[in-house]
Amino acid sequence: MRTIETERLILRDWRETDLDDMFICLSNPNVSLPQGSSPCKTLEECKQVLDYVILKKNNYAIVLKESGAVIGGIGLNEDAKGNARARNLGYYLAEQYWNRGIMTEALTAVIASAHEIADMLSATHNHNVKSEHLLLKFGFEQVDVIKNIKRKSDLEVHDEGYYILKLR
Ligand SMILES: CC(C)(COP(=O)(O)OP(=O)(O)OC[C@H]1O[C@@H](n2cnc3c(N)ncnc32)[C@H](O)[C@@H]1OP(=O)(O)O)[C@@H](O)C(=O)NCCC(=O)NCCS
Repeated sequence: MRTIETERLILRDWRETDLDDMFICLSNPNVSLPQGSSPCKTLEECKQVLDYVILKKNNYAIVLKESGAVIGGIGLNEDAKGNARARNLGYYLAEQYWNRGIMTEALTAVIASAHEIADMLSATHNHNVKSEHLLLKFGFEQVDVIKNIKRKSDLEVHDEGYYILKLR
C-alpha cells in the first residue's frame, strides 16, 4: 500500500517488527470481538494474523507519529464475490487511543486516496454504535441487515448491518 501521512499518523504496510504492537490491540476483547474475531491469546496466534496482512498487502498499520508505535489497523480486504473494484473496510484501534478522533483522521485519508476503489463495503454489529456512527459520518449507507447472527467469536446473538460507500 502507498504510505499515507496525516497530521498525527502514518499509514503504512505492516512489518514483522509490528508483532508486539499488534498483539496489544488484538489480544483485547474490546477491540477484537466487535470485528468478529476472537482475541489473540498468544504472540504466535497474533503472528498468523500479521503474516496474513503482510502477505495480502491490503491492510494499513496505523503509526502514531508522536511515539512511532503502531496503534491500530485499517483493512481494505478483497471482496468475497470477486468484484475487483470493491473493498471491505475494517478498522480497529488500541483501546487507550479511542475517542480522540484518530480513526476519523485515518479514514478521511484512506478514503481520499482510494482512487481505484468504486465501492467501499463495511459491516458492523448493531450495538457497535460508535462504528456505525463513523460509517454514517463518512457517507456510508445501510444496504442490508442480517438478523440474529452468532459467529464463533460472538458472545451473544446480534444483528449485523451492511453498509456501502459509492466512491465513483
Ligand atoms: C470503532 C473505533 C475504530 C473508533 O475509533 P476512534 O478513534 O475512537 O473514533 P473517532 O474518535 O475518530 O470517532 C468516534 C466517533 O464516534 C462518536 N461516538 C463515541 N461514542 C459514541 C457512542 N456511544 N454512540 C455514538 N457515537 C459515539 C464520537 O463522538 C465520534 O464522532 P464525531 O467525530 O462525530 O464526534 C474504535 O472504537 C475501535 O477500535 N473499536 C473496536 C473495533 C471496532 O469496533 N472496529 C469496527 C468493527 S466494524
